[in-house]
Amino acid sequence: MTVHIGAKPGDIAETVLMPGDPYRAKWAAETFLRDARLVNEVRGMLGFTGTWNGHPVTIQGSGMGMPSLSIYANELMSEYGAQTLIRIGSCGGMQPYVGIRDVIIAMTATTITSPSSGIFREVNFAPCADYGLLAAAVHAAQAKAKATKTHVGGIYSSDVFYAERPDLDEQMVRHGILGVEMEAAELYTLAARHGRRALAVLTVSDHLQTGEALPSEDRERSFGDMVEIALEAAFTKS
Ligand code: HPA
Repeated sequence: MTVHIGAKPGDIAETVLMPGDPYRAKWAAETFLRDARLVNEVRGMLGFTGTWNGHPVTIQGSGMGMPSLSIYANELMSEYGAQTLIRIGSCGGMQPYVGIRDVIIAMTATTITSPSSGIFREVNFAPCADYGLLAAAVHAAQAKAKATKTHVGGIYSSDVFYAERPDLDEQMVRHGILGVEMEAAELYTLAARHGRRALAVLTVSDHLQTGEALPSEDRERSFGDMVEIALEAAFTKS
C-alpha cells in the first residue's frame, strides 16, 4: 500500500494503462481484460488488474491534470515497479485536419509548467514518448486505419481546461500541435526520471476551433480503439 494506492504488493502489473477517469478504468478493464479485479479504490480512483492475451495488465485512473497524475505515476513506478505506463485519454483537437474520434499518438508534449518544472529551473525539458512504444502504437493503429484516423506528433499538456489565453492556443496551432490535454507531459517526464517506458494514446473528444464534441453514445466505440492500440503497443516486442 502507498499513500494513494491501496493495492497489495504484487497486485499491480508491470504494464499500466492510465485513463484520467476512474470509471473509464472500470469500463476498459471490464471490456478488455480477462479476470479483472479491483485493486484500488482509495479516494474513488479505481484501479483494476487482469490479463490481456495472457499478459498481466493494470488499468489505474490518474485523475485530471498533471499534479494528480504525478501522484499515481510516482507511486506506481517507485513502489509497485510499473515499467510501462500508457495514458489513454481524451483531448481537444487543435488542427483543422484533426477530426472528432481521431486518435493522436503523442511524440512529445509542450507545457507552460508542470509539477516537474521546479527541478529543471531554467531548462525547458522536452518530454518525449518511448520510441519502441510509439512505433508499436503507430503500427497497431495502422491496422485500424480504415475505421480510425491516426495522427502522430506533438500535443499540448495544459494546466487548465477553461483556458483564458486564446493567443496561446493560436501559437500551439501555428506550431503544428495536434491536440490539448492535461497529463502527458508529466507522465513522460516521470518515466524519463525513473527509466521507464511511457506513451499517450488519445482520442479526440472535442475540437477547439469547430466547437464540435463527441456525442456520448459514440464515446465507447471510439475510446475502444485507443485502448486496443495501447494494449497492442505495450506487448509488441521491440
Ligand atoms: N482542453 C484540455 N483538456 C482536454 C480537452 C480540452 O479541450 N479536451 C479533452 N481534454
